[in-house]
Amino acid sequence: MKVAPVNRIKGTIRLPGDKSISHRAALIAGIAEGPSQLQNFSTSRDCQSTLACLEQLGVGVNRSPNNITIEPPTQLRPPDGPLDCGNSGSTMRMLAGILAGNSFTSELIGDESLSSRPMKRIIEPLEKMGATFQSIRDRPPLRIEGTAKLKPITYELPVASAQVKSCILFAGLNAQGRTTVIEPVRTRDHTERLFNGFGVSIEGTGTTVTIDGPAHFIGGPMTIPGDISSAAYFVAAAMLMPNSDLTIEDVSLNPTRTEFISLLNKWGVDIETSVTRTDRNEPSGTIKVKTRELARSRNGPSVIDKDIVPSLIDELPLVAVLGSQLGGVEIRGAAELRVKETDRIAATARNLRAMGVAVEEFDDGLFVNGPAKLRGAAIDSFGDHRIAMAFSVAALVADGTSEISGSSCVDISFPEFFDLLHKVVEP
Ligand code: S3P
Repeated sequence: MKVAPVNRIKGTIRLPGDKSISHRAALIAGIAEGPSQLQNFSTSRDCQSTLACLEQLGVGVNRSPNNITIEPPTQLRPPDGPLDCGNSGSTMRMLAGILAGNSFTSELIGDESLSSRPMKRIIEPLEKMGATFQSIRDRPPLRIEGTAKLKPITYELPVASAQVKSCILFAGLNAQGRTTVIEPVRTRDHTERLFNGFGVSIEGTGTTVTIDGPAHFIGGPMTIPGDISSAAYFVAAAMLMPNSDLTIEDVSLNPTRTEFISLLNKWGVDIETSVTRTDRNEPSGTIKVKTRELARSRNGPSVIDKDIVPSLIDELPLVAVLGSQLGGVEIRGAAELRVKETDRIAATARNLRAMGVAVEEFDDGLFVNGPAKLRGAAIDSFGDHRIAMAFSVAALVADGTSEISGSSCVDISFPEFFDLLHKVVEP
């Protein structure tokens, strides 16, 4: 994909359903009592992987554009072959929590990227609960022997991960008694909100959450709000171009996902948000960005540290790009970025340097110098959707055209990305 510089962003858009919420809603619906209708379901390839795995487990899935109906079976059935999670860590980690509590054997596989991602973080707690795993040095394929008699545990997460927290809570549904998860830093809380929204009580104060098993969901309708991590690329593009005026309607405004907006506010960007509805405890509403002149953080580089990293985790490559246009940015405490769909620290550093920015790389983050003039360059997506989209935004404000290799990987989270971008840019 070739991306040329443009002048400004203008328009009103709506986005497909949030990927994190869609995964969870589908998994909950697949094991609930009664059918569920999920409107504005994510169009991402990752969420299609979740649906395909559910179908293999005997769940009925009826698809119409953006809406799906899920008909759960009385009990999940043993799959007739490996469950293919594609590129999706969320699918593999959360589904493993459900499979651990079913007394059959299943195998979870993924693409090359997912096959290199760490799974010890879910194997350890699920084995403590009574499931048995086989893996290749704690990486997929994962063979899971589940049991209907899981033991409840109290588990302190070694890494701040919403996927791991959610995996244990899904397993906790089938445990006899109270399961407690303690996080080092608070992560996104969609699982807690949706469990409560679909009839299973989760209690929690900040970083400690508990579930009393066994427990069952009641299915029903939900309209999934637009994906705020997808919205971030549009907000960032508008922020970088004076005279931009962008409205994004019905996007998730879950407070554990809005740190990116708070950061931009701190950087002096004129962004307004307003909640217009709440469904199954998930708030959503409008984001408006108006840019008169380029925001500049005048006090030198901003520092992003471990306390806010989990609530910005998917936006960090984009934050690095934005930092290069302001007074620079230092991101620390983000070693998790090295085990995402690709090593996002290395990928971000490589592409920023290709565009002419000075970058220092650390084990747990990077320092990006700014403000820097970006030059159009050959960008390597490394097959990672968030790298492709973050650098498409960079390319919009560079001198000259950039070419993004492997750009179709945006389908992993946001197949409409380039079409929608085309709609709102003004040359
Ligand atoms: C997600 C949690 C995060 C995030 C991922 C989606 C989720 O991963 O990076 O894109 O839906 O729970 P980790 O929990 O592994 O940090």
